[in-house]
Amino acid sequence: MNWNSNLINNLHWSDTIINKEGKEKVAAKIAEKVKDGDVLGVGSGSTVFMALFAIARRVKEEGLNVKAIPTSVEISMALTNLGIPMTSLYEHRPDWLFDGADEVDPNRSLIKGRGGAMFKEKLLISSSPVNFIIVDDSKLVDKLGSKFPVPIEVFPQALLHAEKELQKLGVRELILRPAKGKDGPVITEAGNVILDAWFDDIPADTELRIKSITGVIESGLFINYNVEIMVA
Ligand code: A5P
Repeated sequence: MNWNSNLINNLHWSDTIINKEGKEKVAAKIAEKVKDGDVLGVGSGSTVFMALFAIARRVKEEGLNVKAIPTSVEISMALTNLGIPMTSLYEHRPDWLFDGADEVDPNRSLIKGRGGAMFKEKLLISSSPVNFIIVDDSKLVDKLGSKFPVPIEVFPQALLHAEKELQKLGVRELILRPAKGKDGPVITEAGNVILDAWFDDIPADTELRIKSITGVIESGLFINYNVEIMVA
């Protein structure tokens, strides 16, 4: 028996998609890479969301048999809507992965996590042998941290300890990410809060130093990962 519900069937991106044209172009490019039998790691965000529609068209038209490992509830719902079968890291390792980013520097280091999914995104990128980052050209920066803060997922009771430790790392400004549509802070899919940290400088060891703070689950800094950048 199937649910008779429009909540999933009429799923749209929850906000206005910025730079839609560029995102559409790079979404089409990534869809061309899908092969029959692939297990795909699927990141989060609007660029990924658009890529899924392009992939779903190929799956339908060419009868491709693919499976996807999602990084967020939002992407799980989109996969359900589009009829792309899902699997998990318990059952499969991704053959390759695609994901978006908020900033990409000339060394291919990234800031991710505007959507709050950086913990699962980093887990999947670390599990996947081949990773494509799909971005429009507004995401290219000379220096990480120029346009976006570094999001840091923190166990709620560790918030004040994390604040104290992050100040030692030279954070200029620290904001507890507020929710939209709910009072109080954003609560992540793993039940934690997010601190958005603005840095004047992000030396290469910053990712490890943030991660070493007790109570920090993960950050949205991806320094020197094995990624190929695809720009629209
Ligand atoms: C989700 O948590 C993020 O890491 C996204 O991948 C990133 O914010 C890019 O999002 P857009 O594709 O919506 O710009």
